[in-house]
Amino acid sequence: MELSPRDIQSKFQQIFKKEPMIIRAPGRINLIGEHTDYNDGFVMPAAVDKEMFFGISPSSDRRSVIFSIKYNEQFEVDLDDPKPVEKPAWANYLLGVLFQFGENGYPVKPFYCVFGGNIPLGAGMSSSAALECGFAFALSEMNMHNVPKLQMVKMAQWSEHHFVGVKCGIMDQFASVMGKTGNGIVLDCRSVTHRYAPLDLKEYGIILLDTRVKHSLVDSAYNQRRMECESGVKQLQTQYPEVKSLRDVTVEMLEEHQGRFEAGVYHRCLYVVQEILRVQAASADLDGGDLKSFGEKMFETHEGLSLLYEVSCKELDFLVERARKFKGVLGARMMGGGFGGCTINLVSNSLAESFITQMTTEYKLAFNIDMAAYRVKVVDGTGLVPDEELDLWT
Ligand code: GLA
Repeated sequence: MELSPRDIQSKFQQIFKKEPMIIRAPGRINLIGEHTDYNDGFVMPAAVDKEMFFGISPSSDRRSVIFSIKYNEQFEVDLDDPKPVEKPAWANYLLGVLFQFGENGYPVKPFYCVFGGNIPLGAGMSSSAALECGFAFALSEMNMHNVPKLQMVKMAQWSEHHFVGVKCGIMDQFASVMGKTGNGIVLDCRSVTHRYAPLDLKEYGIILLDTRVKHSLVDSAYNQRRMECESGVKQLQTQYPEVKSLRDVTVEMLEEHQGRFEAGVYHRCLYVVQEILRVQAASADLDGGDLKSFGEKMFETHEGLSLLYEVSCKELDFLVERARKFKGVLGARMMGGGFGGCTINLVSNSLAESFITQMTTEYKLAFNIDMAAYRVKVVDGTGLVPDEELDLWT
């Protein structure tokens, strides 16, 4: 059963005997532009209707207490000294945000908080960004700080870097906060400026297929890829001092100096440079309504992620290869950091059901794992759940 904002409200009333305000923070998909955000490139994410919910209110006893529905576990926060803890691991996402509120001059009153949601964990849909962003929004609302959205995004990302230990880019937090119903976000991660691109998918829809695997070393491999990109940039700077990141690099520059790089680093850089160009072309496809061409770019991205960037795995490759052969699929690729999680597929609505059935059967046969499929809707970013909307839930 999926959790609703109403469940959060009831749990909050039951534990804390108070009435909370309710906040929602969505997970995200990424249409195209993978591993480009931390290279100053472009990405095209969107917030979706798999969400995290928070109940929050000032506390009545000067303690600050957070309750996780998923882990059925409570944690008491030392507001004067938020620092990373060994256990529970989930608290660190929130503690980093609290720390940032202090650093940025936003005092926080003692509070009670309950959170939970329905973003599948480890699926590459950014449940962690939703956790950080929703909590930042909740603190801002409860303390009436009206923290600017972009500052919230940056505080959430900081928390992931320093309290969780993943050197993520800005995409996930940005999408969770800035999402807009029916629109993709074309985000320039260098200037951190964006535009909304209406997602007119005609008779096609977005389907996520969840491999239900999350191979170990995900986080360390992520940080390692980031370092490989940085080392490629350092190498190029000896020839081109003006280069600041892979955004400033062309395929020709790479080819000319191929011999200077370790093979792995060369391949990582080549993928990123190609992908940055691809996102720009894909966003033109979307503007022009050319979904076929957009879909082809999704397949190309997957190939690059699998062969050059080497962040795919056999389960993801299998799903993309099978999807490629299915009538009615315009594009498919792995989504997010990699090594498991979901593929994102652009599929004709009329064939969606048979696509899901077929893929589920084949995946089960190949790996003996029950795949999950999500037909997602593109929704607004983090915000309050108004009372009228709460009333819609039983
Ligand atoms: C994770 C990170 C993002 C981004 C993607 C890969 O989701 O959190 O910043 O780098 O991987 O595109």
